[in-house]
Amino acid sequence: MKRHLQLTADGSHTIQIDELNVTYHSKHGAIQESQHVFIDAGISYLHQTKGLKEYQILEMGFGTGLNALLTSIFADRMGIHVSYHSIEAFPLTADEISVLNYGTQLQQKSIFSQMHAATWNTVMPIHSKFELYKHHCKLNTFVTQERFNIIYYDAFAPTAQPELWTVEVFEKLYDLLKPEGILVTYCSKGVVRRAMEAAGFRVTKLQGPPGKREMVRAFRDH
Ligand SMILES: C[S@@+](CC[C@H](N)C(=O)[O-])C[C@H]1O[C@@H](n2cnc3c(N)ncnc32)[C@H](O)[C@@H]1O
Repeated sequence: MKRHLQLTADGSHTIQIDELNVTYHSKHGAIQESQHVFIDAGISYLHQTKGLKEYQILEMGFGTGLNALLTSIFADRMGIHVSYHSIEAFPLTADEISVLNYGTQLQQKSIFSQMHAATWNTVMPIHSKFELYKHHCKLNTFVTQERFNIIYYDAFAPTAQPELWTVEVFEKLYDLLKPEGILVTYCSKGVVRRAMEAAGFRVTKLQGPPGKREMVRAFRDH
């Protein structure tokens, strides 16, 4: 499938796939969206409520590495340790990565390059507060002994990949969370929220990033 670069409204890039009619981020602003959904409503929220020294995070869809980069900045700023696992079935090529402007925009060129250079399927230290484990596989074959405080669920929309938004998928994700863990996602469709609830999650709707009315934070309570 052919992927190409797009500029979003906040000046940061995203990738578009015409065949699936999807972009990796919101056209209203890629950095703005990732910051809102995954950092502010995800790790920052959990850190404010739990105040732990370290967190295990699982991301579905490593993609451009933007969520990983923003999380690494947050970890460094807050002095917390993050073990970041990310699943990706179709990694970007070196040429695609080389034109993305997140490293420059966020003044993190070296860290961003290190994240993309990190070997797949092994844990790689990126800096003293952040280690990265990129899993090169599909979500349905992903297995781990780890359990996570947060899941960043950043799959393509259900219109493009409905098989990634089913009750069975959310049951798997529920089991991957620690008790009192949370899942955050940009998608708040009713059919998705009902699938999460059927899998055992307590689902809450929050204000979405610019251009999107709502997003979801779902809790594993026990
Ligand atoms: C919305 S994009 C992720 C954006 C990414 N989090 C970022 O910060 O750039 C969805 C990602 O899921 C990946 N993907 C699609 N189907 C997958 C599957 N079955 N298992 C794992 N990854 C998949 C795509 O290749 C793509 O990188």
